[in-house]
Amino acid sequence: MTTDTAAQAAYVVAALLFILSLAGLSQHKTSRSGVVWGIAGMVVALAATVGLASRSITTTGLVLIALATALGAGIGLWRARVVEMTGMPELIAIMHSLVGLAAAFVGWNGYLDVDADLSGSLLAIHHAEVFIGVFIGAVTFTGSVVAYLKLSARINSRPLTLPGKHVLNIGALVAFVGLTAAFVARPGMGLLIAVTVIALALGAHLVASIGGGDMPVVVSMLNSYSGWAAAASGFLLANNLLIVTGALVGSSGAYLSYIMCKAMNRSFISVIAGGFGTPAAAAEEGEQGEHREINAEETAELLGNATSVIITPGYGMAVAQAQYPVAELARKLRERGVEVRFGIHPVAGRLPGHMNVLLAEANVPYDIVLEMDEINDDFAATSVVLVIGANDTVNPAATDNPSSPIAGMPVLHVWESANVIVFKRSMAAGYAGVQNPLFFRENTQMLFGDAKQRVEDILRGLDALDAPVPEMAGSR
Ligand code: TAP
Repeated sequence: MTTDTAAQAAYVVAALLFILSLAGLSQHKTSRSGVVWGIAGMVVALAATVGLASRSITTTGLVLIALATALGAGIGLWRARVVEMTGMPELIAIMHSLVGLAAAFVGWNGYLDVDADLSGSLLAIHHAEVFIGVFIGAVTFTGSVVAYLKLSARINSRPLTLPGKHVLNIGALVAFVGLTAAFVARPGMGLLIAVTVIALALGAHLVASIGGGDMPVVVSMLNSYSGWAAAASGFLLANNLLIVTGALVGSSGAYLSYIMCKAMNRSFISVIAGGFGTPAAAAEEGEQGEHREINAEETAELLGNATSVIITPGYGMAVAQAQYPVAELARKLRERGVEVRFGIHPVAGRLPGHMNVLLAEANVPYDIVLEMDEINDDFAATSVVLVIGANDTVNPAATDNPSSPIAGMPVLHVWESANVIVFKRSMAAGYAGVQNPLFFRENTQMLFGDAKQRVEDILRGLDALDAPVPEMAGSR
């Protein structure tokens, strides 16, 4: 068997392993094996690619490949080990930027180093591939960098609203189509520089135009773009595996974005077109009345007397790492005969499935963790709702206030229950920067402080409820 045949066979195996990986990652129970399939696929793919390359490169080239692999793997391992769960979307965004940059470089290389055998329509197709690869890669690169800056709060997450922003976006697309035709007819470096600059600006502008609340969709959309960028590189390099994996990433990212848009009641087209048709964010309205406070002992008493409790966690539970005491609280209340369930909003936290992962880590049974649609009708018959570090995902303005920037986004109807306790450290707004009228409702009480410490205080309060009351001095 020639090296080429062996490598093509290895590519088919790697592609199958990637498909198995995606299937495994689609469920919590099988997600670990999904990761293992993915790693195995990548090892096979890398080995086959290096094997193919080794036929035509010098020893120095091979040493450089080994060095680059060791350096990349070292940086990857280090980042993956130190990253906090809450920093995962930023990490994903910055990794997508590298995929985009690589695709743009592959495109440029394809222009500078044209295969001498190509001529006629094959050469025209090659030049179209160069142009499309550079365009998608450059859009993905700057879009991902801006997403990284927004997600890590290095720049403001509010949408940028330049005058005529949609005209600018559409103009860039029209220019791309025109320049592609010109480049295929008469390839030239000037045209390639022009499309690179336009694509870099378009990527930055598209993502800068999108508000914080829509960032989850943007991250998975960039995931999709990076897949298409990789597929474009695959065509240029005549690498079948890159085409297959690029298409897998591209289509699964696009489908995830679509599902998230449906969950947030956002128009898919509007989000990918840089916030097309979304109203500009209203100015922050300030506090909307008086809020009431409660302490941990009073909360423990309320919970001790409750018949049903729903816990709706959010980003603050992840920041506080409160999932372990929260799981303990659920266990203790269930032992006392209280019905306890968790209500999970599809975009609670900072990445899809964030809350599910944390609760699974703390061994909360799957059957009491319910999706928003499964639990939203049950709040009205619930004694106490504990909102632990969630804010935007429980904001009634989304349903009550058509001028709110989050209007129309489905939210957990926590306010319909008899008592709502909100765990947070201050009256600050959530990720979308919108004030939350829930905090000022009559049945809402605020429990201020770090969520982990407050839940631990409640656990002690529950123990105190069960402890025998010491006899008063002099009493018989
Ligand atoms: P957020 O609206 O982000 O609110 C979290 C709240 O947690 C904050 O108001 C904060 O208030 C509180 N908090 C922070 N640290 C805390 C701590 N140590 N102890 C107690 N409370 C703490 O959360 P959410 O309801 O989960 O909504 C998620 C938001 O993120 C949505 O707007 C969503 O669109 C966006 N987003 C989601 C994703 C995905 S895919 N899930 C990705 C990117 C963005 P204090 O500062 O007053 O404590």
